[in-house]
Parts: sequence; C-alpha cells; structure tokens
Amino acid sequence: MTIRVLFVCLGNICRSPMAEGVFRHLVEQAGLADQIEVDSAGTSDWHVGEPAHEGTRYVLEKHGIAYDGRSRQVTRQDFYDFDYLVAMDSSNLVALRQMRPLDAHAKLALFLEFADEINMRDVPDPYYSGRFEHVYGLVEQGAQALLGYIREHEEL
Ligand code: 4NP
Repeated sequence: MTIRVLFVCLGNICRSPMAEGVFRHLVEQAGLADQIEVDSAGTSDWHVGEPAHEGTRYVLEKHGIAYDGRSRQVTRQDFYDFDYLVAMDSSNLVALRQMRPLDAHAKLALFLEFADEINMRDVPDPYYSGRFEHVYGLVEQGAQALLGYIREHEEL
C-alpha cells in the first residue's frame, strides 16, 4: 500500500514546495520511497505553472535537495487521491476544510501539529518577509515529526 501526502500552502511556491522537497528527501533517506508518495499544491491559483520561489530553490539547493516542481492548485480529486493533506498554516487548513467533499477519506492536518518541540501553529509566510532560512528550519523539524507520525500510524 502506498501512502500519499500532499503539502498545501497559499501560492504553492514558497512553503509547500519546501516541505515537499524536504519530506521526500527524508523518505528517500529512510528507504521508504516505494511506500510514500509526496506532492504539493496551493489553495490559490495565483502562481499556477510557476517554479518554486527563488528563496525556496536557494535554501533547498543549499541543503542538497533537488526540486523542480511547478505550482498547481488543490483540486477536489486530491481529497480522494491523497491520504494526508497537510496545511502549512491554519488559514489554508480552513480553506481545505471548506473544500473537502463529504465522502473523501483524506486526513486534514496542520503541518506543525506533529512537532511537539515547536511552539507555533503556523509556518510563517516567507513571501513578504524573505525569511526562507528560518522557514527551512521549521520545515525540517516539522517534516521529521510528520514522518515519525506516519511511520508509527501506518506501520512503515
Ligand atoms: P506560499 O507563499 O503560500 O508559501 O507559496 C506565498 C506565495 C505567494 C503569495 C503569498 C504567499 N502571494 O501573495 O502571491
């Protein structure tokens, strides 16, 4: 059985592509690439078709993580295709709750809820602040915690 994880932010150019890249890297390091699939999407259509923001591409490359995804918007079908839809902040979680079809099985979660050591709910948006390194640190801790949670709950 394959577990499918979709990271979701507003534009799908800063935070969720970073989470996708870091999480896939951890999955590969753990030897679980055949069992966990990863993608990302945005609740808005503002940047559809664009590559990740240069700040995200820069920090990923600096940490040795390849990323060549393009922005896409979340669809209704994603709620059937993915097991976990993980929102990078609470406003995107609210947007997902409003979109979710009643019979879809996907679990909706907030990215930082798995990281007990981080005392924040939302990954702050680096689009205006430019704090991509700070966000990378949060994403790395959150991704590790999420992988731990999924391994435990899915018995991987
Ligand atoms: P993201 O960041 O949701 O982490 O991809 C943003 C990207 C674009 C905008 C806002 C946030 N925007 O206003 O265009």
